Amino acid sequence: MPRAYHRPCTDIAEFQRLLKHSDRVLALCGAGLSAASGLPTFRGAGGLWRNHQATSLATPEAFKKDPALVWLFYAWRRHMALQAKPNAGHYALAELAKHNKDFMCLTQNVDGLSQRAGHSPDMLRMLHGNIFDVKCFDKECDYIEPNNLSDPLCPALAPASERYPADQTMPLLDPTKPTPKIKREDLPHCPTCKAAGKTSLLRPGIVWFGEALDSDMLKEVDAWVAKPRGIDIMLVIGTAAAVYPAAGYTDAARKKGARIAVINPDRSAQKGLTSRDFYFEADAAEILPKLFEGIIGKPEIPGQAA
Ligand SMILES: *[C@@H]1O[C@H](CO)[C@@H](O)[C@H](O)[C@H]1NC(C)=O
Ligand SMILES: [Zn+2]
Repeated sequence: MPRAYHRPCTDIAEFQRLLKHSDRVLALCGAGLSAASGLPTFRGAGGLWRNHQATSLATPEAFKKDPALVWLFYAWRRHMALQAKPNAGHYALAELAKHNKDFMCLTQNVDGLSQRAGHSPDMLRMLHGNIFDVKCFDKECDYIEPNNLSDPLCPALAPASERYPADQTMPLLDPTKPTPKIKREDLPHCPTCKAAGKTSLLRPGIVWFGEALDSDMLKEVDAWVAKPRGIDIMLVIGTAAAVYPAAGYTDAARKKGARIAVINPDRSAQKGLTSRDFYFEADAAEILPKLFEGIIGKPEIPGQAA
């Protein structure tokens, strides 16, 4: 059939052939990758937590004003992420990283599920940080504790990690119940600052609104993109290709010759694609193992019956 319309290709076999002959693959992952793991995204309207707009808690100003409230929000998200399991999409990407010669995966997700699926850290960049990193709130201080999986993080934040019966709302999530009272001194403090006689708090090691992405990491990514060999495929998974920051990377990848493949059940995510590109209207957990078949084989997913 002639491609009269500039619609992206949706043929899985054609994508598999292209991937087989690809040396350099770039992936950009968003919240949709972790959707099948059951993690809430807090994006857009209705992203409420205890009647707070979740996005308004994700700022340095909110932390300065009420560190206990912001810590409770993140302590709960840490707890949720630890309860969640990587899905077949995370495993398929981790497996592709093992098989593809030059693969770079950028993720906007802070939940650590890609790492837990065994994704090689050399081929994974967490654009928005890691919810399990704990670092000093003082910008002058470079104290950071990578990947602290303690849950609760400290005794004062235990209300965010409590067990509750499945048919009941967790008291912490019920906005009609008072917020647990936590004293500032009971929140985690920076040991480096303490030694210097200061009392700086620790904070989650993620990029909040109004903060810049790590410049060393961005330089590394730019250098990878700029390599003379070009890019064969760019996968845009669970995020929209035409929205920043994905848009910047898709433009850059296109300039290096890449064909873009968008994987997203939301059809509006294919905006800006051409007939050279691919679009798969599906959840990442369902379709990534199929798309990578022939390269990765059938990945084994721990805890899932055959
Ligand atoms: C995680 O951080 C908390 C607060 O700083 C600390 O008390 C705890 O020992 C850390 N856990 C690990 C495993 O390092
Ligand atoms: Zn400090």
